Amino acid sequence: MPTWGVSVPPDVLQGEEKPGAPGASSPSSAPTLIVENLTVGYGSAPVVQDVSIRAKPGELTAIVGPNGAGKSTLLKGIAGVLRSTTGSVRIGDDDVTNLVPERIVRRGLSYVPQVANVFPSLSVRENLEMGWYIGHGDGKHRVEEMCEMFPALRDSLHRPARTLSGGQRMMLAFARGLMLKPKVLLLDEPTAGLAPKIVEQVWSHVLEIKASGPAILVVEQNTRRSLRDADWGYVLTNGRNNLEGPGPELLADKDLVRLYIGG
Ligand SMILES: Nc1ncnc2c1ncn2[C@@H]1O[C@H](COP(=O)(O)OP(=O)(O)OP(=O)(O)O)[C@@H](O)[C@H]1O
Ligand SMILES: [Mg+2]
Repeated sequence: MPTWGVSVPPDVLQGEEKPGAPGASSPSSAPTLIVENLTVGYGSAPVVQDVSIRAKPGELTAIVGPNGAGKSTLLKGIAGVLRSTTGSVRIGDDDVTNLVPERIVRRGLSYVPQVANVFPSLSVRENLEMGWYIGHGDGKHRVEEMCEMFPALRDSLHRPARTLSGGQRMMLAFARGLMLKPKVLLLDEPTAGLAPKIVEQVWSHVLEIKASGPAILVVEQNTRRSLRDADWGYVLTNGRNNLEGPGPELLADKDLVRLYIGG
């Protein structure tokens, strides 16, 4: 049973936009994130067209597809970094389509981009506190909880984030994204550029985060790993939905592997 993530405790957020919309308390089988027919691009030309995605609490939902398929663009459209021209994004029953990113964060969605996901000149503690910027109080207890979840961060709390290794930096990015106990966590290529041994550590943290409750939507460079562990996977090609199904079933599809995964 998720310990958190399905609904955000009322002490976490301040201001008028508290999460906990009706959909947030729905049964665990109901999706937390519902993306319908989303079209997103840069300027006039759409990159992602009519894409629909659902992600459930306590589950890992993976998006795979060739380079340039529009995976990162889709995440940016969901997080409000790019405006969509058609379609909708909901968190439970709460329509967050085209809200500015900060408002979407307040409604319970956290987005960890592949690059620029920490503030290099700020200390690890300051980075975590930035993740708490709309929380109640000073957030010290939440920093402590993040250090329990990511022990590697505890000894580095006073170091500038730029001095962390790639794996530590990604763990800090996860922790910062989790500070407000999001209902939905978007991860774009969390293991990119990391040494193989570190990749396994970081990926095991993704699975731990999943077990703790939020709906996780991940784009991962290692397609096999992400489909192996995904409760549900979507194959995106040329900016459109192509196939979907339980991750291991997609991985067992020889044609799909030949066309989109290789090896
Ligand atoms: N800032 C941008 N301005 C204009 N076009 C962009 C921009 N970023 C990406 N694109 C284009 O959008 C398309 C999709 O790019 P996107 O980064 O979403 O793909 P991706 O599936 O994440 O690829 P990868 O697996 O390489 O990360 C590509 O044709 C890319 O050139
Ligand atoms: Mg990408």
